[in-house]
Amino acid sequence: MHAAVIGLGTHLPPRLVTNGELAARFDTSDEWITSRTGIRTRHWAEPGTATGDLATEAGLRALKSAGLAPGDIDVVVLATTTPDHPCPATAPDVASRLGLGPVPAYDIAAVCSGFLYALAIGQAQIAAQQAGTVLVIGAETYSTILNPDDRTTSVIFGDGAGAVVLAAREDTDRPGALLGTHLGSDGAHKDLIRIPAGGSRYPTTAYTPEADRYFTMEGPKVFRQAVVRMGESATTLLHRIGWVAEKVDHLVGHQANARILTALAGQLDIPVERTVVNIDRVGNTSAASVPLALAHAARQGRLTPGDRILMTAFGGGLTWGSAALTWPDITPL
Ligand code: ACO
Repeated sequence: MHAAVIGLGTHLPPRLVTNGELAARFDTSDEWITSRTGIRTRHWAEPGTATGDLATEAGLRALKSAGLAPGDIDVVVLATTTPDHPCPATAPDVASRLGLGPVPAYDIAAVCSGFLYALAIGQAQIAAQQAGTVLVIGAETYSTILNPDDRTTSVIFGDGAGAVVLAAREDTDRPGALLGTHLGSDGAHKDLIRIPAGGSRYPTTAYTPEADRYFTMEGPKVFRQAVVRMGESATTLLHRIGWVAEKVDHLVGHQANARILTALAGQLDIPVERTVVNIDRVGNTSAASVPLALAHAARQGRLTPGDRILMTAFGGGLTWGSAALTWPDITPL
C-alpha cells in the first residue's frame, strides 16, 4: 500500500508577538531580526496553554479537512520538542481528547525534523498495512523553553501546530501521493542544539543553573549544517524517486531562517520564487514548521492538485529529512 495526504489542519495561538515587542525587552531591533532571519512576527501561547492543546486543535481541523470521523483514525504520531510532560508522551492524551478510541499513539523527538520523521513513520505503517489512516501532527510551544534573557533564541522561535491525515491507497497516480521520504542524523553534533539539563545525563536539581534549563543553539554552526544537510537529503530523495529539480513546483523547507531558504534553493538549483516562505509571520515553529508552510501556500492559492512538492527539514540531534508529495485536492482548515 501507498500513503496519500487527504487532510491538513493547523492552529496558531492567538497572541502575536512583534519584533518591536521583543526590542523593548532585549538589546535587539526590528532591523536586526528582519535582516538576519526574515522574521517579523511569531505566535506565543499564553501561560497554561500546552503543546497538546495546539496539537488537539490542529488534529481536529485535519480530520475535518479529510472529511473523516474520529473513529476513522488508526494511529497518531506526534512530533514535538516540547511535550506536555517529560513523561508520559503527549500523543495518547491528544488521541483521547480527539475521541479516537484506544488507538496506538506515540511521540517522535527529532526536533525541527520531527514532522518529516513522523510522516515517514506514518507512511511506513501504511506500507506495512499496520494502519489504513494515520494522523501525523507537528506541534510546539517553544515559548515555554526559551531563555527569557537570551536574545539569540527568543527572537527566532514561535508556537503552533500542523497536522495531516495519511490514508492508504493502492496507487500513487492521484494527487496527494506521498512518493518518498529520506531521513538522516549525526549525533556527533548533538550539542549544537539542546536543553542541557532535565534528562538522565544531567537531571535537574535545586542547584541546576537557570540557563541550563533552557533551549540553546549555536546559530552560525547550525546555519552551515542546515543548508548542507537539507540540500543533500533533498537531492538523495529526488534521485530516489526520479524527479529532477527543475520539475519541483514548490520547495517547502523548514522555516528556520529566510537566508537558509534562499541558500537551499540555490544549492538545489530550484528557482527561489518556488520557495514557500511564511517564517516572516510565524518564526521557527520547529516540528510544526513544514505543515504550517504547506497550509500557508495552499491558502495563498499557490498550490494546484498534482503540483510536485519537495519538503525538507533540519534540526537538533542533528537530524534531517525530506519528503516528496503531489498536492492533494483538499482545503486546509
Ligand atoms: N539582536 C541583535 N543582535 C544579535 C541578536 C539579536 N537578537 N542575536 C545575536 N546578535 C548579535 C551577536 O551577538 C553577534 O554580535 P557580535 O558580532 O558583536 O558578536 C552578531 O549579532 C551576529 O551573531 P550571529 O550569531 O553570528 O548571527 P547570525 O547572522 O548567524 O544569525 C541566527 C543568528 C539567526 C541564529 C542564524 O545563525 C541562524 O539562523 N542559524 C541557523 C538556525 C537553524 O538552522 N536552525 C534549524 C534548526 S532549529 C532546531 O532544531 C530547534
